[in-house]
Amino acid sequence: MSAKRIVIAGGSGFIGTALAHELVRRGHEVIVLTRRARRRGDGVREVVWDGEHAGDWIPFLDGAAALVNLTGRSINCRHTPENLREIIASRLHSVNALAAALALVKTPPRVWVQASATGYYGDTNDQVADETFSAGGDTLADICQQWEAVLAAANVPTTRKVTLRIGFVLGRESGALPVLSKLTKCFLGGAVGNGRQYLSWIHLADLVQMFVAAIENEKLVGTFNAVAPNPVTNAEFMRELRRALDRPWSPPAPVFAVKFGSWLMGSEASLALVSQRCAPQRFLATGFPFQFVELAQALRNLCG
Ligand SMILES: NC(=O)c1ccc[n+]([C@@H]2O[C@H](COP(=O)([O-])OP(=O)(O)OC[C@H]3O[C@@H](n4cnc5c(N)ncnc54)[C@H](OP(=O)(O)O)[C@@H]3O)[C@@H](O)[C@H]2O)c1
Repeated sequence: MSAKRIVIAGGSGFIGTALAHELVRRGHEVIVLTRRARRRGDGVREVVWDGEHAGDWIPFLDGAAALVNLTGRSINCRHTPENLREIIASRLHSVNALAAALALVKTPPRVWVQASATGYYGDTNDQVADETFSAGGDTLADICQQWEAVLAAANVPTTRKVTLRIGFVLGRESGALPVLSKLTKCFLGGAVGNGRQYLSWIHLADLVQMFVAAIENEKLVGTFNAVAPNPVTNAEFMRELRRALDRPWSPPAPVFAVKFGSWLMGSEASLALVSQRCAPQRFLATGFPFQFVELAQALRNLCG
């Protein structure tokens, strides 16, 4: 794709920062919509929006090649009614605001790449969930369904829609891996609960290339699982992490300890206990060139 303007709503965070840098490296003009715009020295321009209402940000979408929406309050918090309300509202309002904006501009982006999550499937136990797998019934699955439904309802006839159901993203500086690494270095890197729950991980570098593929490849339409091809159980994940960090065996953390530890850390134990064994069936079918297929390889790269 020749140099184009790409707008990333909610692009100031973990995934957005990596994606923005890759798009700038490819020569694109990148606009990030954020609630607190800063002046940056990395070629990315931040523009203020509130994630909900129309504003001066709308003209940046006119003639943009692509819109990416990563907006959403982090789910890594205690799932109190108030936090859940914000988790839902930030996702639904941003999609609705962007849809309303696209209806106002003369030349809407040709593609809208929308973040969703493998949480859509709920607890899949050890069943493999490809993109045709049914939706789950827990709170996060319900939120993902609502999130995807507002995108489906967006009336943007000239814009191709791609939804990425993102798994557990592994990055060096942000996301959950630095926290897990710190615990593991302190000899607290045992399996969580019975350790049999699956974890559908993806290296941040591969995820960024999935967004690039979704933007550039006009044949990609609809929903894609954004995970590596080889999910592992929690016990396997922690074993590989200990190996990557050169730490010995650590005792497993029983469920009550996980619940207490999560509470102390202001998080939610269910995030570590749910089993999600997802397959990137559609990316595999397009021949997506995964750089990190095996967890050991990804962790060596990130923890080395
Ligand atoms: N990281 C993962 O492992 C993972 C896994 C599955 C799905 N996802 C999804 O992928 C998307 C991006 O993830 P990420 O890890 O990059 O998240 P992140 O670092 O938390 O970034 C999300 C962005 O959303 C904006 N935001 C947060 N709360 C908001 C609110 N109440 N109203 C409006 N905007 C708000 C923030 O932008 P400003 O503060 O600058 O406005 C923030 O930079 C999210 O939707 C997330 O659910 C991530």
